Amino acid sequence: MTRPGEMSLGVAVVGAGSIATAHLDAYRRQPGARVVAVCDRHPERASALAARYGVEQVHTDVAALLADDRVQAVSLCTANASHAELAVAVLEAGRHVLVEKPLATTLADALAVERAAAASGRVAQVGFVRRFSGNVVALKRFVDAGELGEVYYGRATNLRRAGHPGGWYGDRERSGGGPLIDIGSHVLDLAWYLMGRPRPVTVSGNTYARLGERPGLGPRRYRATDTGRHSSVEDLANAVIRFAGGASLLLEASYSLHAPEDRLSVSVHGDRGGAEVEPELRIATERHGTMLNVTPQIDHLSFDLDEGFGGEIGHFVRSCLGLEVPLAPVADGVAVTRMVEAVYASAAAGLEVVLDAG
Ligand SMILES: NC(=O)c1ccc[n+]([C@@H]2O[C@H](COP(=O)([O-])OP(=O)(O)OC[C@H]3O[C@@H](n4cnc5c(N)ncnc54)[C@H](O)[C@@H]3O)[C@@H](O)[C@H]2O)c1
Repeated sequence: MTRPGEMSLGVAVVGAGSIATAHLDAYRRQPGARVVAVCDRHPERASALAARYGVEQVHTDVAALLADDRVQAVSLCTANASHAELAVAVLEAGRHVLVEKPLATTLADALAVERAAAASGRVAQVGFVRRFSGNVVALKRFVDAGELGEVYYGRATNLRRAGHPGGWYGDRERSGGGPLIDIGSHVLDLAWYLMGRPRPVTVSGNTYARLGERPGLGPRRYRATDTGRHSSVEDLANAVIRFAGGASLLLEASYSLHAPEDRLSVSVHGDRGGAEVEPELRIATERHGTMLNVTPQIDHLSFDLDEGFGGEIGHFVRSCLGLEVPLAPVADGVAVTRMVEAVYASAAAGLEVVLDAG
């Protein structure tokens, strides 16, 4: 069996913007991988990032990148609407791919990536980084061991009072939507994953575009690398998703909302116990007629960026080397895309969408 360190996986990072640095930092800590190229359609961005991380090769075009035999795997860190097309190109060229979330901006595109992955036999992992954070890894073990019993309710909230990343994130053509597809897809995935990935049957959603980008308000946080102003996405989305078997999930995500503070909260609830995994991992249960809150003694009770990306990229590298089975497969990206698309469709129609009447 190959072990990381005995073989070095040649990796390329495509998209030299904000999140690419989290990937590059994590690859740098991986014994089994070496970043051999950086690609961005803006050559100065690719060159600057390559220089910062000591990467030899710079490309401005993915086709040229894929002609380089040293590239065996690709991290896709471009704007959302390019993910599917680039992922299909990478897989058809016989390379493994780690696609940042969201996998795609439409279900049709997500399914095209799934088909390309199946035909290629290569690893196609979706960037659901929160699954790899220590608090989630710990909780998943409790859930899988049946400690929460049957999980029938999930809650996924990611509300920003004023936290629009600007640039392409506000341009529906390039982003596929606003806070729902961006920060909502992280918490939706997390709750759905912890609920055991149930099959969605109906979706009822609402979207609102009332407040807009509101630049200058709110804490400084990541911004899109381009700075154009657009306003074609929602400020707020909410949804109720019902699953086969009767479980349900309540979802809400905003970039702009008159709320007293930002709120990140993900929880799952079963008939033997419940757990809040964000803002901090706590398990709620009952023993001997007494309610208990259990706080695991782990390094980070909340999402930790280094731990999350270290876990995600380490797992991707080991999956490419045949050492692990992908924990965030393309099928899960398809499922989340299906739910997100249904929320937008339901909101546009003002009606519940039935995904699976069977
Ligand atoms: N996992 C997370 O927590 C997390 C956090 C932030 C962003 N993201 C995701 O990462 C992706 C990138 O976000 P960002 O904030 O880094 O964006 P960004 O705007 O900072 O950078 C994107 C870069 O991609 C380049 N690019 C776009 N299309 C390209 C193409 N076809 N070929 C080559 N280069 C291309 C752009 O020139 C730009 O430099 C998005 O899909 C976003 O949803 C994930």
